[in-house]
Amino acid sequence: MARIRLVAGNWKMHGSRASNQALLDALLKGGAGAKKAECAVCVPYPYLEQVAGLLRGSAIAWGAQNVSEHEKGAYTGEVSASMLLELGCRFVLVGHSERRQLYGESDAQVAAKFAAALRAGLTPILCVGETLEERESGRTEQVVARQLGAVTKETALAQAVVAYEPVWAIGTGRNATPEQAQAVHGFLRTKVASETRILYGGSVKPQNAAALFAMPDVDGGLIGGASIVAQDFLAIFKAALAAAGG
Ligand code: PGA
Repeated sequence: MARIRLVAGNWKMHGSRASNQALLDALLKGGAGAKKAECAVCVPYPYLEQVAGLLRGSAIAWGAQNVSEHEKGAYTGEVSASMLLELGCRFVLVGHSERRQLYGESDAQVAAKFAAALRAGLTPILCVGETLEERESGRTEQVVARQLGAVTKETALAQAVVAYEPVWAIGTGRNATPEQAQAVHGFLRTKVASETRILYGGSVKPQNAAALFAMPDVDGGLIGGASIVAQDFLAIFKAALAAAGG
C-alpha cells in the first residue's frame, strides 16, 4: 500500500499574528498541500485559533507541538487533547527531543501523551532519535527501539506517524545523509505497520529534501527552521510531491 507523503512544519516557539498570516498566505498561494502529498503546520498553542481560521477548508492541516497526558483536571498550564481537537487540530507532536531533553519528558510520559492524543481522535507524530554520543557508541537502533517500544507496548501505531529525528541533526545544519536516514527508517519499518508513515527530521532544507524523500522508507519530513521560511517550506513540500510523482 502506497503511503501518502507528509511534510509537517514545526514552528517551535516562533511566530506572531502578523508573521503567521504572511507565512500562511504565502503557503496557500504557493500551493502547499495536495492529494499526493499532505502538508501540515504544528504551531504554538496561542495561535491555533488564528491558524484554524486561516487554513480551514484549505489543503493544509494544522496541529500542536505538545499535549497533556491527562484528559482534564488540576494541571495548571497544560492543554488537553480534546481542546486541541476543538481547535480543529489533526496532528500533535509527541516526544520531540526538545521536550525530552529540556523538559525531562520520559518514555512513559511520551507514551501516555501519545495514548491521550489517539483517544481524542488526533494523529500523534511520535518523535524518536538518538544523540551524537548514542550514535557514536553504536546505540542508535537500541535507543529508537526503546523510544518506539515504550509507545507500542500499550497502543497500536497504525493511525500514527513516526518521525525519526536524530538529535545531532536538529537545528545544526548537519542533516543525516539519505543513507543514514534510510538505515534507521528501514529498521523502524520492521517495527510498525506497513501503512505507518515515517518522516525524517533534522536540518531538512530545499537542497537536501529531494535526496532524503527519494529513500524508500522516508515518507516525508518534519521541518523545523525551514518551516518558517515560506519559500523553503514550499520547496521542501514540492520535493515531497515530486517524489510522489505528483
Ligand atoms: P530543524 O528542526 O529542521 O530546524 O533541524 C527539526 C525539528 O526539530 O523538528
